[in-house]
Amino acid sequence: MKTVLEPFRIKAVEPFRITSEAERRDLLARAHHNLFLVKAEDVMIDLLTDSGTGAMSTEQWAAIMTGDESYAGSRSFFELEAVVRDLTGYRHVFPVHQGRAAERILFGCMLTPGQAVPNNAHFDTTRANVEYLGAEAKDFVAEAAADLRDDTPWKGNLDVERLAAWLDEQPAGRVPVGMLTITNNRVGGQPVSMQNLREVGELYRSRGIPFLLDAARFAENAWWIHRLDPAWREVPLRRVARAMFDLADGCMISAKKDGLVNIGGLLCLNDDALAAKIKDLLILGEGFPTYGGLAGRDLAALAQGLREVLDEDYLQYREASAQYLAEHLERRGVPVVRPAGLHAVYVDARAALPHVPPEQLPGQALACELYLQGGVRAVEIGTLMFGETDHDLVRLCLPRRVYTQSHIDWVIESFGEVMRRKDGIRGLRIVEQAPVLRAFTARLRPMAAGAATGV
Ligand code: F0G
Repeated sequence: MKTVLEPFRIKAVEPFRITSEAERRDLLARAHHNLFLVKAEDVMIDLLTDSGTGAMSTEQWAAIMTGDESYAGSRSFFELEAVVRDLTGYRHVFPVHQGRAAERILFGCMLTPGQAVPNNAHFDTTRANVEYLGAEAKDFVAEAAADLRDDTPWKGNLDVERLAAWLDEQPAGRVPVGMLTITNNRVGGQPVSMQNLREVGELYRSRGIPFLLDAARFAENAWWIHRLDPAWREVPLRRVARAMFDLADGCMISAKKDGLVNIGGLLCLNDDALAAKIKDLLILGEGFPTYGGLAGRDLAALAQGLREVLDEDYLQYREASAQYLAEHLERRGVPVVRPAGLHAVYVDARAALPHVPPEQLPGQALACELYLQGGVRAVEIGTLMFGETDHDLVRLCLPRRVYTQSHIDWVIESFGEVMRRKDGIRGLRIVEQAPVLRAFTARLRPMAAGAATGV
């Protein structure tokens, strides 16, 4: 069967306004060709992020009504704690308002200036929280990830050999914690294999370094292990996920992804002494440990989201819709990064617009054209976001349980139209930018005709 069957019925709908291309041209100019500055109500299909943009189930909405709003000792907290302990096996469970709060608290308890944190690839906020404390965030991306068209699986892996060699050179005490991000968002949402999880864990352990997972997309990583690793093919997803967590000493989770909620996060671990320190910082910045910056109803919705996310039919549908998007974009000549992940499909903008050099922001130019064509909002991950970088990508993120196959068809058709007129697409130049994180606020203008080709 070719049709992607969404394993849910729609019980509430959120209408969006259908805009015309002429209208969008005006809106884009007013937003200075920066899609972060376009109002959400002027977007028809919003693929900016999969974070906090999912739809909750009927059971989650029911949990919202029964959430316990007590300041201390909320029943909803104890429910969540039981669900998270069962999922991860970790003793200490701290709710936080989102992933980066877990990062700030954990690193605040563990890092001092001059130290370093290794990872397969730090997500932006993780890196920023490490660097804010005067420490170094060090990435060990697998070699296979450099080739965007290579179909090799497990491109999210950490390069264990390079990490071992690097650890050999570090003075005692320089590395107080080691990380692994599953799935690897900075590297195309690629998964990490169980073998790599095991090897990384053994390496950290052999050096006496605590091992923490950034497990924002743990269910999607577990799904790939179940799908691609014959040793785990027959194992229930919940046991696959538990096996991943068992290899580490704790985790940080942005629950806005696989927690299936719009806000929330978790910090979980076994170390009693570290947990005591975390509790102090948590109270200082987030709130009492039984609510951690969330409402009781948020805790209740998260507990239910974690019960639902490892459902095989849901993850099968998620894979089917991402693969459908990737395959049909390719058929229309869109250079898609391989293999396609689950939370997003990435497009290689340098390959799509070879006449636009990186300094003229091909990723941003392509994302703007997609908005003009179809009212679809994607995000540039490239020169505008990072300055000089190896790749200019456009990320099409898939919010969980939000869009149907016909929405995806609209995206495919819109991108196909963009590719038909790609030779005429001009690059952009920055006319105004902030000193840090410029992608969010920069003002841009299209290059004058002829400039893109250097004529
Ligand atoms: N870790 C990973 C791997 C992430 O992808 C994110 C967020 C975070 C940590 C931070 O979590 O947003 O809850 O504070 N990623 C979002 C994205 C923003 O669009 O990829 P947060």
